[in-house]
Amino acid sequence: MSTLALSGHRPIERAVANISGTGIGLRSPHVREVLDTLPEVPWFEVLMDNHTAAGGRIAHELLTIREHYPLTLHCVGLSLGGIDPLDQQYLRTLKHMQERYEPAWVSDHLCFSSLDGTHYHDLLPLPYTDEAVQHIAARISQVQEYLGQRLLIENVSSYMTYRHSRLSEAEFVAAVCEEADCLLLLDINNVYVNEFNHGLSGIDYLDTLPLQRVAEIHLGGYEDKGSFLLDAHNNAVSEPVWQLYRQCMQRIPNTPTLIEWDNEIPDFAVLQTEAANAQHIADEQTSYTSGI
Ligand SMILES: [Fe+2]
Repeated sequence: MSTLALSGHRPIERAVANISGTGIGLRSPHVREVLDTLPEVPWFEVLMDNHTAAGGRIAHELLTIREHYPLTLHCVGLSLGGIDPLDQQYLRTLKHMQERYEPAWVSDHLCFSSLDGTHYHDLLPLPYTDEAVQHIAARISQVQEYLGQRLLIENVSSYMTYRHSRLSEAEFVAAVCEEADCLLLLDINNVYVNEFNHGLSGIDYLDTLPLQRVAEIHLGGYEDKGSFLLDAHNNAVSEPVWQLYRQCMQRIPNTPTLIEWDNEIPDFAVLQTEAANAQHIADEQTSYTSGI
């Protein structure tokens, strides 16, 4: 176990989100427009790794945005499933940003992304075994204690499976959430990509998860490579993903949802249209469940 400088083992409070509705992933091409126009967006998600060295103007812009909007902080670099010691410099930066921006949630992925000190630009899947559950849950617990806040852990898309796996992916996600007592960031696009790539059932996947732990949903676009789907975040949300989202919102209405688009980033108005589509589906399901 690495030696995190824990600040007195503060109890981990179950965070109460101050976000609701459909937010948008804040990307640098849109920052100026957001500052100038203060669009009607309920919250933004900030990529922690884009701001690790941020000082000066960028930090000032982000603080100004924080004055107007709730934020969540999304990470790709904790490598929670890795076997290298947790990166203490990364954690210190994360804690600094947590204190500065007071995000409703801090999230990272159910994967590993570094080995022997080398950071990969991929979110690599783990074998779905009890040993891996214990391993990643212990590291999630360490980070949660350090931050004094529950993490949201996101399911990842993948292009390979391990013959060592003994659990289904959804059983693995569920077991980690229970063992670490963390929350779940459910990426519906990732579920659908894996449904296509590995022949899963998206509905069975949803019904295996501890849905009461889902605090946020991600929606993004994949790229169709013919024989497989690539989680490229360079497209609009596809129709099958909207359908799965509708199924999900029937089960957990009113769950905060985020539109993420990271490559070939379009005009901000395109993201607002995607967010409006998601909100329309969410509202439909809320009306349905409340009998309005
Ligand atoms: Fe995601």
